[in-house]
Amino acid sequence: MSAMAARPRVEVVIDLDAIRHNVGILAGCAAASGAVTMVVVKADGYGHGAIDVAEAALQAGASALGVCSVEEALELRHGGIGAPVLAWLRAPGEDLAAGLAAGVELGVYSTGQLDTVAAAAVATGTTARVHLKVDTGLTRGGAGPDEWPGLVRAAAATRGIEVVAIWSHLAHADDPGHPIIEQQVRYFDQAYQVARDAGLRPLRHLANSAATLTRPDLHYDLVRPGIAVYGLSPVPGVGYHLVPAMSLRSQVAMTKRVPAGEGVSYGHVWHTDRETTLALVPAGYADGVPRVLTGRLDVWLAGRRRPVVGRVCMDQVMVDCGDDTVAQGAEVLFFGNGHGGVPTAAEWADKLGTIHYEIVAGMVRPRVTRTVHGRRPLTGALVIR
Ligand SMILES: Cc1ncc(COP(=O)(O)O)c(C=O)c1O
Repeated sequence: MSAMAARPRVEVVIDLDAIRHNVGILAGCAAASGAVTMVVVKADGYGHGAIDVAEAALQAGASALGVCSVEEALELRHGGIGAPVLAWLRAPGEDLAAGLAAGVELGVYSTGQLDTVAAAAVATGTTARVHLKVDTGLTRGGAGPDEWPGLVRAAAATRGIEVVAIWSHLAHADDPGHPIIEQQVRYFDQAYQVARDAGLRPLRHLANSAATLTRPDLHYDLVRPGIAVYGLSPVPGVGYHLVPAMSLRSQVAMTKRVPAGEGVSYGHVWHTDRETTLALVPAGYADGVPRVLTGRLDVWLAGRRRPVVGRVCMDQVMVDCGDDTVAQGAEVLFFGNGHGGVPTAAEWADKLGTIHYEIVAGMVRPRVTRTVHGRRPLTGALVIR
């Protein structure tokens, strides 16, 4: 038997050149207004692989990384990444010692959290570098207007605490002209003044991808893009020359010629209306292909879009190929970079009534192989050896 390397049954393919291209655009925008770029790699790099994305981002001009949890930050450290990392959210009672020892910077939202972080810093003989979060109107995490003055005063006076920055997050960044943005910015600027009056000289950061691309006036000292790093537009309908970095692909397992009038897949919700060739593709809802997209899904196969027909099953789907000859093993793209009509994650999101963030972040699945293209070794001061 020949020893041909088998391609995975289903794979998420990550294009790190696309990541570098997108970070180049974002870091270029930031640099034009004197800001640096913290690339957000939480949730395993929005499903793309946090360490690979972090390395590519640092190669392309990012200087810091943002994650949700200390655990995520430590994964980056264990992956050899020495760049500044901010971990912005914790559950009460989480152990901070390892994060502090690894120099992970922490988001702090309240005086209670400040006390906890300070106690951990003193206990571990470190200084905690913290980013104080002010809630300017998203009404999610962060100190509200009543707590903010107390938080900044306490932070300025607490042993074991070094305030690196104050920060906030926008509620309507994907709608760049929305009036709430101006209101949030006013609160943010006032909060900064309160911090200065308390004797702090912090950096400021507010901008996500949308604000990085559309509001240079909101870059402050640092921007925190996430979704645009992955090539997905943060503002519906505008591309910004971003290149989607993730594709979901499988291959044709077998084809069969089927006469007109045959019911296809569970429940026979679709019937052939003519004699046709059906391709069996071994990827289903356990691999991230939503069953609810039954009857609404196209794939890219043998040079064109073709409809998935009949129910999406746990392990497989059927594709109608008409009278075309389709080879066993032919590549099937469920979504990709959109070039030439290839379906996109954004298109899936629209059909599902969700956002593309959820599609790509949901592609971390035990049965789906992640194949990464374009790895280049990270060198220099940002590497831990
Ligand atoms: C605090 C914070 N900053 C920045 C980002 C990046 O946002 P985006 O992916 O829209 O660029 C996120 C993502 O949700 C976030 O939670």
